[in-house]
Amino acid sequence: MPCNCCEITDNAFSEAEARAELRSFHKRGPANQTKLILRAIRSLGLKNANLIDIGGGIGAIHHELLEDVAREATHVDASSAYLKEARQEAARRGHAERVRFIHADFTDVAAELLKADIVTLDRVVCCYPDFRRLLKAAAEHSQRALALTYPRETWYLRIGLKIINFFQRLRKDPFRVYLHPVGEIEALLKGEGFQRVSLRRLFVWEMALYQRA
Ligand SMILES: C[S@@+](CC[C@H](N)C(=O)[O-])C[C@H]1O[C@@H](n2cnc3c(N)ncnc32)[C@H](O)[C@@H]1O
Repeated sequence: MPCNCCEITDNAFSEAEARAELRSFHKRGPANQTKLILRAIRSLGLKNANLIDIGGGIGAIHHELLEDVAREATHVDASSAYLKEARQEAARRGHAERVRFIHADFTDVAAELLKADIVTLDRVVCCYPDFRRLLKAAAEHSQRALALTYPRETWYLRIGLKIINFFQRLRKDPFRVYLHPVGEIEALLKGEGFQRVSLRRLFVWEMALYQRA
């Protein structure tokens, strides 16, 4: 796929939004769907793990997991606004030396990256048109666990995402949100050697934890 995804995604997330998310993280801690990922990963009892956080936003997952589960992290993100906030927060926490920040579409740089114990994608597949390409690259880079959140396949989200995309079209903004078929996500990850070991649902988000079979 010719990829202008990084540019489209980069334009979709403003510095003001990224700053607001970091403020919310300082006040309230990780968002509820992120908490599900953190709980699921912690339940595996891993220590000194390395982590690849794809589309990590302000970096909530690595800020948290570097406290007890992870030794080091790589945060690959298509949004420079998010990366800026994530980098500053990592420095504030004394994690600057333990996190590598890469501004890129993960599928473009995956071949240059080493594998990790854990790969996470929190609210990322719904921002990316080619979820098969993204998840295949993510799965190939995970040696042990892969956790992701995505919008649930419900009637109200089908309508909601259509409305969001309608307004995106009106504004001539090429960024779209996607409700990818969960059955296909699961089949793809199974095909890559993973089995689903946990599934949790909120009103909008579903969290699935996969482990290498
Ligand atoms: C809705 S935000 C979620 C941010 C964060 N994970 C969270 O849950 O708060 C989606 C993020 O995924 C990133 N993203 C989407 N597709 C990506 C890709 N192919 N490679 C790297 N980052 C990607 C965007 O840049 C953005 O930071």
